[in-house]
Amino acid sequence: MANSSFFTFLLLLLLYTIVASANNPNDDETVPSDNVFTLQVPTLDDSILDNLLSFGYYLKSCPEFESILHNKVKVWIQKDHTLAASLLRLQFHDCVVRGCDGSILLDHDGSERRAEASKKLRGFDVINEIKEELERSCPNTVSCADILSAAARDATVELGGPYWAVPYGRKDGRISIAKETQIIPIGRENITSLIEFFQSKGLTLLDLVVLSGSHTIGRSSCGSIQYRLYNYQGSGKPDPTIDPKYLNFLQRKCRWASESVDLDATTPNNFDNNYYINLSKRMGLLYTDQLLYSDPRTSPLVSALASTPSIFQHQFAVSMSKFGVIDVLTAQDEGEIRTNCNFVNAY
Ligand code: HEM
Repeated sequence: MANSSFFTFLLLLLLYTIVASANNPNDDETVPSDNVFTLQVPTLDDSILDNLLSFGYYLKSCPEFESILHNKVKVWIQKDHTLAASLLRLQFHDCVVRGCDGSILLDHDGSERRAEASKKLRGFDVINEIKEELERSCPNTVSCADILSAAARDATVELGGPYWAVPYGRKDGRISIAKETQIIPIGRENITSLIEFFQSKGLTLLDLVVLSGSHTIGRSSCGSIQYRLYNYQGSGKPDPTIDPKYLNFLQRKCRWASESVDLDATTPNNFDNNYYINLSKRMGLLYTDQLLYSDPRTSPLVSALASTPSIFQHQFAVSMSKFGVIDVLTAQDEGEIRTNCNFVNAY
């Protein structure tokens, strides 16, 4: 046991070393070393403390929050296990547009939720039902953004993924603009633009590779990958990086753009590291998934994650903790606690 912990420790150390040397999308530029270890210590000024997320945020105002949420998520996923992946993806789409502010939940003309990029998003009913019960137990207290962050975590755990503690206190945004979803990657990007996109959200190369591991569960519509199957880049042939047997399977499975196919071809319902093992067998469903294996900046990380399941579980929790606090609204004059997650409050 002690040996395996030590081994995991060594692998983590190796992983961080790889990341430190590969974290720059622009190969020949180096990060100025005086920027790397800047430690920001919050002062103990009360107004600043109000603006921070905290683990005990609902301890007094809504102590039953996490148990209500947990039970609801569990029941929904027991009825339909595919909802687990949908809740996790909902959090992704929420946080990368205007931060983790619940803006993806707003349902009005021209909102993010009505955009093309959101067409396949699901899980809204789960969030609404949790919110309704919370409004009965502790009215006007728990934000929709906090509900979504905790639901994504509990959904991950339901399928065997890691647990991470979610700090609370996010306010709900009042603005949601469909056009802003155009920045969300769709699976046809190159690695440099994915790295830059993640960096623009304060995330690293390691976060990119580890969070892409979300594709160990869930499905894609065939419409998102059909271009890889027949006439890749106008060649009249399939994408040559796809394993021939897997290609044959996909060509049979994806006759119609409206069909769905598992993102992880081997264990689609388990939150495990098989996603990375599949990539090493050229069985990545999305073009961007497979690229993580072939690009020299990301491939050492893919190999490490494929060979040691515990690293994936551990680092996924770490990366999701960072992800869940992107550009959160916390100040008194920012955002609100919505009473219905689909609409901003009427004043
Ligand atoms: C690295 C950039 C990413 C790209 C290019 C990408 C792209 C995609 C695409 C194209 C789909 C299928 C959509 C369809 O139905 O056609 C998908 C599904 C999914 N994505 Fe990502 N994604 C990325 C990152 C993430 C991250 C960071 C997360 C979570 C934190 C995530 C979670 C998921 C999940 C769970 C699904 C399955 C959803 C379901 O079954 O309902 N993705 N992604």
